[in-house]
Amino acid sequence: MAVLVLGGAGYIGSHTVYELIDRGEDTIVIDNLQTGHIDAIHPDSKFYKGDIRDKEFLDNVFKKEKIDAVIHFAASSLVSESMIDPLKYYDNNLYGTMTLLRSMVENNVDKIIFSSTAATYGEPENIPIKETDRTVPINTYGETKLSMEKMFKWVSVAHNIKYVSLRYFNAAGAHKSGKIGEDHLPETHLIPLILQVPNNKRENVKIFGDDYDTKDGTCIRDYIHVTDLAQAHILAIDYLKKTGKSDIFNLGNGVGFSVKEIIDSARKVTGHPIPAEICPRRSGDPAKLIASNEKAERILGWKPVYTKPENIIESAWRWHKNNPSGFKD
Ligand code: UFG
Repeated sequence: MAVLVLGGAGYIGSHTVYELIDRGEDTIVIDNLQTGHIDAIHPDSKFYKGDIRDKEFLDNVFKKEKIDAVIHFAASSLVSESMIDPLKYYDNNLYGTMTLLRSMVENNVDKIIFSSTAATYGEPENIPIKETDRTVPINTYGETKLSMEKMFKWVSVAHNIKYVSLRYFNAAGAHKSGKIGEDHLPETHLIPLILQVPNNKRENVKIFGDDYDTKDGTCIRDYIHVTDLAQAHILAIDYLKKTGKSDIFNLGNGVGFSVKEIIDSARKVTGHPIPAEICPRRSGDPAKLIASNEKAERILGWKPVYTKPENIIESAWRWHKNNPSGFKD
């Protein structure tokens, strides 16, 4: 099987490429390297540098390679940036996906797995969150991802395209080889920011609000290892090949941990006191996001392996300790 991975130089994309290659699949990567890293691309994959908004470029790749399925990670994904520059998100996420779908339809490629997010739910109505729960995004990022899901739905009705949308909760951790991991600029995610303290890159970690209605007042999230996420994409391709049915799945561990609990866990893993400072709430943060992963388990047969925060943080720490400045490029 030949799989085209759009955004295969990014965090979750590169980890998925490693799993595909481990399984012996022919893997072709497209990335514009705006946020991805050349060193994150698996050496055994075939790489085309380009942008998914460039239809001629996409058409050429589809003509050269015989693609069985596409996995689409190529999107902008910072909540705060999406509120400052919403049109960048409409352009990259929606116009990019529209261009990709045009090219897929014209080149007769009919299977796609793509990254969606817990941000499609907005403030959750239930915990744990089910795929059938209300989706009312509270930021542009979540709105564009929900619109992408709807674009797939209507395009699949008109054309013979089948899709699986995977709604990630909080992706974290790094590949077991230590060769690839998380490297965002700017970094906004909790675990890499915490680990900057024992790496002597910052003095303390900021806790954004301790007055939420949760057990210790800090926000609760469902942290899911990036390799577990990667495995779900492969199961989703198998599912589409077997059933030809489009669907949407949550991907999380189904268990929530508070910001304070994650910091404590990082203290245990690193042996560093990691001082923390209580700061005001960050705007747009829901108090609690926990996935129901029952559907992914039942239908895809997905079972996360990294179920404890310590295991997730250990793998992240191995990467950050050995690569304090991230990738070389
Ligand atoms: N946090 C801190 N201090 C920090 C960074 C984060 O206290 O320095 C807190 C946040 O307030 C939040 C939690 O840690 O409560 C997790 O924050 P992240 O920024 O790591 O992740 P988010 O939950 O904000 O974001 C994730 C995904 C997004 C997705 C969003 C849905 O990374 O892609 O969930 O709400 F859109």
